[in-house]
Amino acid sequence: MHVTAHPSILYFGTPVALLSTVNEDGSANLAPMSSVFWLGWRCFLGLQGSSKTTENMRRTKQLVINLPSPAQVSAVDRLARTTGSNPIPQDKIDRGYHFVKDKFAIAGLTAAPSETVLAPRVAECPVQLEAVLDHEHGYDTDGPLAGFIAVLEARITRVHVEKSILMDGHANRIDPDKWRPLIMSFQEFYGLGPKIHASKLGEIPEEMYRTPDFEQANSSLLNAI
Ligand SMILES: Cc1cc2nc3c(=O)[nH]c(=O)nc-3n(C[C@H](O)[C@H](O)[C@H](O)COP(=O)(O)O)c2cc1C
Repeated sequence: MHVTAHPSILYFGTPVALLSTVNEDGSANLAPMSSVFWLGWRCFLGLQGSSKTTENMRRTKQLVINLPSPAQVSAVDRLARTTGSNPIPQDKIDRGYHFVKDKFAIAGLTAAPSETVLAPRVAECPVQLEAVLDHEHGYDTDGPLAGFIAVLEARITRVHVEKSILMDGHANRIDPDKWRPLIMSFQEFYGLGPKIHASKLGEIPEEMYRTPDFEQANSSLLNAI
């Protein structure tokens, strides 16, 4: 039986990402987020317009999208309710946020240099995606939330993955039986269970999903192999 419900948030569960960006003084900022979805070698990130991450992305057009697994959950939680914005936006003061200059230090995470962008990677994360900001989209453009949320379209320029999540015998395929994302659902942390059913979609070769973004990011590397 279904009932009509009025939940204040509709946070049904998505993988957590740690976004690293560069501050105006050249230092790094790091922010947990989870409103992200993937389309080809691009992703769409939903971020508060007032976040330091959004400000840094708009200014530098660069970032790294680091994907933690459950092993990094305490580090992610240490970053919760922190912001690199000073002064702290009022809505974040109301929700108990505090300013932190060195997010890597407070999280106990290690910054590693990237290859195509200035923002650093998070060494501990099994997946690190270097990216550029390609477009910004509207959100409730003629309504009260205009400006409050930014929808940022990032194009991936380099993919780094921990070897242990690659499919046996494949240099370029991530094994979904080995990759365990960290999930946030209704503000709580979860892992992902094992595969539960054979997949008809899974029979399609992954190469059939390549887009010109894939070629653009990889052509020089593929030629070098
Ligand atoms: C697990 C987790 C997921 C979050 N997801 C989002 C999100 O999808 N979008 C967003 O704007 N903020 C999200 N937040 C809150 C941001 O971390 C927060 O806005 C933070 O102040 C951003 O840091 P910055 O201001 O230094 O950029 C999330 C926080 C946590 C802990």
